[in-house]
Amino acid sequence: MALLNLESVALTYPGDERPAVENLSLSINQGELLAVVGPSGCGKSSTIGLLAGLTPATSGLLTLNDSPILAPGPDRAVVFQDYSLFPWMTALDNIIFALDESGRATGKTASEQAKKLLDMVGLSSYSHKYPSELSGGMRQRVAIARAFALDAPVYLMDEPFGAVDAKNRVSLQDLLLKLWAGDGNKKTVFLVTHDIDEALYLADRIAVFTPGPGRVLKIIDVPFPRPRRRFFLVQDPRYIELRNEILSLLQKEILAELQQVEGGAGI
Ligand SMILES: Nc1ncnc2c1ncn2[C@@H]1O[C@H](COP(=O)(O)OP(=O)(O)OP(=O)(O)O)[C@@H](O)[C@H]1O
Ligand SMILES: [Mg+2]
Repeated sequence: MALLNLESVALTYPGDERPAVENLSLSINQGELLAVVGPSGCGKSSTIGLLAGLTPATSGLLTLNDSPILAPGPDRAVVFQDYSLFPWMTALDNIIFALDESGRATGKTASEQAKKLLDMVGLSSYSHKYPSELSGGMRQRVAIARAFALDAPVYLMDEPFGAVDAKNRVSLQDLLLKLWAGDGNKKTVFLVTHDIDEALYLADRIAVFTPGPGRVLKIIDVPFPRPRRRFFLVQDPRYIELRNEILSLLQKEILAELQQVEGGAGI
């Protein structure tokens, strides 16, 4: 059953001429892990803003559980592309605040849970550092731990592992799968990534976006059973085929866009 639904959604930011998103229709099922890939500037973060209820659509309809999305809510945890931690709070306090705000835990319990979450993302010895004292990848891991603290039914994640090094990235991907599986009650995840291998490892379906204004070019079903084993996955001929298909879709679209721009400029 579709939990999140976008119907002919368009978004033009105030003062902009060109829409960031146009004619975007997409359904995300309850318990589904949907990955979105697409060229830079195609409207992926804008779509997260729309689903989060932070940016109103210019036209079209967005619903969650058949109710229009009009504002942010505790039912959606967002991991932003720029981490968005509170700079005046330590890593630990950022997570305690999320637990407290969402009513999940307070006082000593919140502090203990926050420590566990930081440990899960490999940052237990950095709990008293402020965001400005952490590397980009570490900030991103705190932001992920904070999102996990919210334990929301829907996760909107904007390149959550983009700044994380390869080793931590692999363990965070597996952590995300654990979070997604929950206690048998699967979360619904909308994951923006520029990494095709990440999308193929994690997702049930992959939505390939066109260059801006963003809309869905193709939905790809990822056929591999779970649990997936990276080592075997990358050797599966279907994996290689799908990877090539996505790459060529993206390349063709980018080339077509470039030709249009060049043609328009009379080159
Ligand atoms: N707050 C904003 N105000 C005005 N224009 C914006 C705003 N945010 C994004 N845009 C514009 O909307 C378009 C889509 O941007 P968006 O950030 O959604 O792309 P993206 O697919 O997330 O790109 P990337 O992969 O680089 O993160 C771009 O042309 C961008 O300049
Ligand atoms: Mg973005």
